Amino acid sequence: MRVLLGVTGGIAAYKAAELTRELVRGGVEVQVLMTGGAQSFVTPLTFQALSGRAVRTTLLDPDAEMGMGHIELARWADLILIAPASANTLARIAAGLADDLLGTVLLASEAPLWLAPAMNQAMWRNPMTQNNVRAIQALRPDCQIIEPDSGEQACGDVGPGRMPEPEELARRVLTWQRDSGVGRPENGPVRDLLGLRIVLTAGPTRERLDPVRYLSNDSSGKMGYALAAAAQQRGAQVTLVSGPVSLAPPAGVEVVPVESACDMLEAVRTVLQRVDGADWFVSAAAVADYRPQTSATQKQKKQGDAGLTLSLVQNPDILATVTSARQARLTVGFAAETENLLEHARAKRQRKGVDLIVANNVSRPDIGFNSDENEVWIVSAADETLVSRQSKTAVADKILDAALAADRLKRNIEETV
Ligand code: C5P
Repeated sequence: MRVLLGVTGGIAAYKAAELTRELVRGGVEVQVLMTGGAQSFVTPLTFQALSGRAVRTTLLDPDAEMGMGHIELARWADLILIAPASANTLARIAAGLADDLLGTVLLASEAPLWLAPAMNQAMWRNPMTQNNVRAIQALRPDCQIIEPDSGEQACGDVGPGRMPEPEELARRVLTWQRDSGVGRPENGPVRDLLGLRIVLTAGPTRERLDPVRYLSNDSSGKMGYALAAAAQQRGAQVTLVSGPVSLAPPAGVEVVPVESACDMLEAVRTVLQRVDGADWFVSAAAVADYRPQTSATQKQKKQGDAGLTLSLVQNPDILATVTSARQARLTVGFAAETENLLEHARAKRQRKGVDLIVANNVSRPDIGFNSDENEVWIVSAADETLVSRQSKTAVADKILDAALAADRLKRNIEETV
C-alpha cells in the first residue's frame, strides 16, 4: 500500500518520524511531503532515511517534477494522511488553497484523506478551527478526522490537541488496509492480520530443582513458532514469549526467552502492559502445572541410600490469568490430551473462558509434541472443526483463519450490542 504522509508545522512533527518507521515496518510504502513549517521542527533528511524516499517539499521544484510530478504524486497514493495537521493546514484545506505542494496534491487526489490535527488546546477549541473542521467534513464527507488526544501539551497547557501515538496511528492505517483490501499485493502472503497485535507463548517451561536439574516436558515449541511465523507473515505484530527450545527465532518476531512458568507469566504481563493489551493472546506453551516447592541454589548431593520425595506446588495458570483480566480481545488455548480429546477440550474452553481451544492427541507418535506435523480439532462456542494431519505451518494458518473468523464474529457482536 502507498501512503502519502503530509507533515505540517507543529511540535508533533517529531512523532511523524516514528509514524513513518512504524508504517514502513508494516510493509507500507511511505512518501513524505513536508510543509515549510514542518521543516522548522524536523529535517527532510530524517524522513528520507526512515522512508527510503526523497522527501517532497516544494511545488515548483524542477528536479522533483522531472521524477514524480505533483499530479502523479496525487494519483500514486492509496491514502493521504496528514499528521500532524496544524491549525493553519486545516484552514488552508477548508479554503481549498493550492499555493503549495500539499494543497495542490490534496485538490488533485481522489484518495481517501485522513487528518490528525495536533495543536495547542486553545487553538483546537477555537471556533475558527472547529469551523474549519466542520467545513472540511461537509465538503469531503469521506475525510476521517482523527480526534486529538487530551493531556499535557508541549507548551505546558493541559487539554485536547495531542497527536495520537504513532503506533496507534500506524495500527489504524494497517487495520484500514486489512479491512478495505487496498494495496494488497497480488502475489505474496495475504496480509489479513495487518494492524493486529498478537502475543503468543510457546515451548515447555523448566521448573528448577537446583542449578542443573529441572522438571519439564516434551514440547518442542514447533507449533507455537509456526503460529508466530505465520501471523507475522500475514502482517501481525507478534511477540513470542518462549520457553527453552532449540528453534531459530522467526523473522520479524520479537522473542522474549523465559525458563519457568512464573517467569513466563511475568514476561507475558510485562509485554501486555507495554502494548496496552493485545488483540489476541495465543497460549501454545506447554506450561508445567507444578514446580518444586523449593529450588536449591547449589547442586544437590545424593543423601545416602534413601529415596527422595519432592514437594510440588501449583504454578499460576497464565492463560486463565490473561483471560480473566481481559487483557486480550480474543484468547486461544491448547489442549494436549491423550484421551477423550473433544470432551476435555470443550470443558477446558469453558473452564478457562477462552474463545478457541486447539486440541491435539499427544499420545499419537506421528503428530504432536516433537513432530513437524499435527492434526487438531479447533473448538469454539459455535463449532468444532477437524484440521486433518498436515505440516505445522499449514495447521498454523488454519488456526489463524479460525481465530480471525471468531474475532470478526466477536467484534460484530460487540459492535451491535
Ligand atoms: O490445563 P491445561 O494445562 O491442559 O491447559 C492448557 C492450556 O492452558 C494451554 O493453552 C496452556 O498454554 C495454558 N496453560 C497456561 N498456564 C498454565 C497451564 C496451562 O497458560 N499454568
